[in-house]
Amino acid sequence: MSRRSVIAGVGSALPKRRVTNDELAAQVDTSDEWIVERTGIRSRYIAGDGETTGTLATEAARKGLANAGVDAADVDLIVLATATPDQTFPSTATKVQAALGINDCIAFDVHAVCTGFLYALSVADSMLRSGNAAKALVIGAETFSRILDWDDRATCVLFGDGAGALVLSAEETEGGILSTKLHADGRHNDLLFVDGGPSTTGTVGKLRMKGREVFRHAVVNLAGVLNEVLSDAGLTAEDVDWVVPHQANARILDATAKKLGLPAAKVVVTVDEHANTSAASVPLAFDTAISDGRIKRGDIVVLEAMGGGFTWGAAALRY
Ligand code: UT7
Repeated sequence: MSRRSVIAGVGSALPKRRVTNDELAAQVDTSDEWIVERTGIRSRYIAGDGETTGTLATEAARKGLANAGVDAADVDLIVLATATPDQTFPSTATKVQAALGINDCIAFDVHAVCTGFLYALSVADSMLRSGNAAKALVIGAETFSRILDWDDRATCVLFGDGAGALVLSAEETEGGILSTKLHADGRHNDLLFVDGGPSTTGTVGKLRMKGREVFRHAVVNLAGVLNEVLSDAGLTAEDVDWVVPHQANARILDATAKKLGLPAAKVVVTVDEHANTSAASVPLAFDTAISDGRIKRGDIVVLEAMGGGFTWGAAALRY
């Protein structure tokens, strides 16, 4: 037995407004048929007035804490992954902290775009295992609808808003988080980026993507890091009960599962309902599969994601 991060609870939150492909097709030159065939997406949730990355993150965190039976006052670490913070600063993590009434804990944002949640989980896990914290909130939250170019049909149909939160507790155990692996390769900055920022244009900017090239890298990188994390955890693909992937495109999920020899039935898919919610997508999908009874206590679960940078990563855990 050793000190490890156990997943004590999970929660998630979505904006009120659900937007179908047909609704989008009324504003953009696209169709339900194209979007479903190329991506598997059928709907997404879009934040309205008063709904922000911070409010969605806070709602997900509250649900996660209730699910874990953990008092907010006992949280000593908040790591929040986002590429769409409420403000340039302060961190959205400190806004969640204030909303939860936690007066003193470590709180900061992590930015690795769609891989952000894996980066946040890995950082929080390291801090828990080293004894720097005992109870952590790890949150992925985004409002990508606010950085989409609604005139660019190649990107605006792909993304949605939402948040997911895990409550981690440091315990002496053989379960919990078994391994995390992270990567980045900045040579591909120009394939998926936002064309603005405080230090360049002084504006927030809009998302730009060369989708086909991102797709090609995604399948190779994800299969590689999944093999790496399984090997580090002393597991094989046969040991895996569930894969909870970043939800970018149903075709990437299928191709990655095939490359690893994993049956599609073991892959949690929510991209049809939520679209790509960037850093929120893994914890949102994880919560969905726990809530509907698919993922059970004791199951071996593998999380993975890939995004702008490029960044990519994976985690293996016993839930
Ligand atoms: O989360 C971070 C990681 N991101 C990803 O993993 C995204 C990875 N990429 C993808 O998922 C896919 O590349 C896309 C879904 C973005 C695009 O699918 P694709 O099969 O690679 O299509 P494409 O970009 O090559 O476009 C094919 C055609 C083009 O028309 P022409 O040039 O063949 O006449 C596009 O103009 O589809 C057209 N098109 C559309 N048509 C209707 C592009 N977007 C749309 C649209 N509706 N929304």
